[in-house]
Amino acid sequence: MKLRIKNLYSSYHGSLILENINLSVKDREFVTILGPSGSGKSTLLNILAGVLPPDKGYIFVEDVEIKGLSKNFAYMPQQDLLMPWKTILENVILYGTINNDKKSAKERALNSFERFGLKGYENRYPRELSGGMRQRAAFLRTALCGADIMLLDEPFAALDVITRGQMQDWLKGLRQELNRTTILVTHDIDEAIYLSDRILILTGKPASFKKEIVITEKNRSREWLFAQTELHNEIYKYLKDGDMEIC
Ligand SMILES: Nc1ncnc2c1ncn2[C@@H]1O[C@H](COP(=O)(O)OP(=O)(O)O)[C@@H](O)[C@H]1O
Ligand SMILES: [Mg+2]
Repeated sequence: MKLRIKNLYSSYHGSLILENINLSVKDREFVTILGPSGSGKSTLLNILAGVLPPDKGYIFVEDVEIKGLSKNFAYMPQQDLLMPWKTILENVILYGTINNDKKSAKERALNSFERFGLKGYENRYPRELSGGMRQRAAFLRTALCGADIMLLDEPFAALDVITRGQMQDWLKGLRQELNRTTILVTHDIDEAIYLSDRILILTGKPASFKKEIVITEKNRSREWLFAQTELHNEIYKYLKDGDMEIC
């Protein structure tokens, strides 16, 4: 589904955080919002997910205006938020259970455990899984939610560098299958280059989009990524300069 944000503003305790945010995302496009910590990335996803009202502005999905909670978004918040007293299977079918469709939710989930690298852990508890596995479980729960637009808030930020790399490879491989419009939020430049069709740089106080970068490469590998030093440096400069506007 396509998404459009128009003239969006948000403030927190009287100070403006997001200023005049405008964004159009195409159906099935993978867009990354890249910005330093505190720039307002989570605020923007919270607004899209409907858990935080904006000061003003408009959100459209397929040209229909959305206000508040909407069935169009599958939201993976910054913390994995798995419930410690529920098994992994119970955790991942949570949304299905809320929608009173426990049996089919369970079937669909069980079919996906292998693909998400969680086979054999269906009846384990979150504390028994590694950080990477917990993130995959949280991801599976988001994917099973069925909503067409995925909102991913720094899904791999808490992981060690090796696990993070594995998870990025895994997400890259899964993209084709998920086949959904995705908005990823991150402060990791390489993660953004590796995964995105398009990167939007969010900086400044208040923050707005300072630069857009389209990446067309179809065959991305780690080798390809390591060779993108020029692009990496260009993005770094935009992130840094955007921040310098504060002074
Ligand atoms: N619950 C909160 N407590 C304190 N500050 C907040 C809170 N929510 C938002 N803010 C303010 O909003 C800004 C953006 O926060 P956030 O959207 O979480 O940034 P990001 O996700 O990019 O790190 C912060 O710099 C802070 O000033
Ligand atoms: Mg955040």
